[in-house]
Amino acid sequence: MQKALDKDEIKKMRVACKMAAQVLRYTSDLIKPGMTTLEVDQIADDYTKTIGGISACIGYHGYPFATCISVNQVVCHGLPGSYVIKDGDILNLDVTVKKDGFFGDNSKTIMIGEVSDQAKDVVKTAYEAMMIGIESITPKGWTGDIGFETNKFVTRKGYTTIKEIGGHGIGRVFHSEPFVPAFGKKGKGEKLRPFTCFTVEPMINEGTEDFIEKSIHGSSIKYYETADGKLSAQFEHTILLTDTGYEILTLE
Ligand code: MF3
Ligand code: CO
Ligand code: CO
Repeated sequence: MQKALDKDEIKKMRVACKMAAQVLRYTSDLIKPGMTTLEVDQIADDYTKTIGGISACIGYHGYPFATCISVNQVVCHGLPGSYVIKDGDILNLDVTVKKDGFFGDNSKTIMIGEVSDQAKDVVKTAYEAMMIGIESITPKGWTGDIGFETNKFVTRKGYTTIKEIGGHGIGRVFHSEPFVPAFGKKGKGEKLRPFTCFTVEPMINEGTEDFIEKSIHGSSIKYYETADGKLSAQFEHTILLTDTGYEILTLE
């Protein structure tokens, strides 16, 4: 179980999370068709340094980049590279900043130029799914409360949620318990603990929930694509649970 954070640790989490939000907003505002995902990654890394943070992904289990950039059918952990961003793409940018020993993690899916109505709907559903999950958080609640509401909402829209990958505890370490899935049962899963932080980051697929695992050279981190090649979208916030409710920390 995660240890409760004291006042000073919470202060540091606030700083790291705010920085992660700044990097995400700054970088995503500059994304244009014609850029490569590697150029986007470089902007994020440079800006993280400018504001005094560390890109937490670099070197994490051998992962070579500052960000994960997951385009269209890529579910998560997409690798920045020579891919040229084009009109009509949906692109998830995932940024994690380390500051003073603490981690802030967030992501969003942006739409490049004119995207199809279907793509718009998948992205909107992913955002709403994250927010509905967050709104179900209570001080005495369970991870299953979040997953239950998320999956119910997504299924009713005719889409699917990824089951094996999801949110995680975060603080002095990048990834810890609890696992915060995008499906589950109310009152089940792991108990949420006041004054700890965790992420809510559902991955929503347009078609099948099945995915293909791909390896990343030199890293034990995998990246994932939808098995049917249809779209996947995701949003992520880092949350602080208190004794009276919750706070979204990855806001500017
Ligand atoms: N930011 C991702 C998450 O939401 C983790 C990326 S780990 C990396 O948990 F090594 F792939 F960068
Ligand atoms: Co995360
Ligand atoms: Co993330």
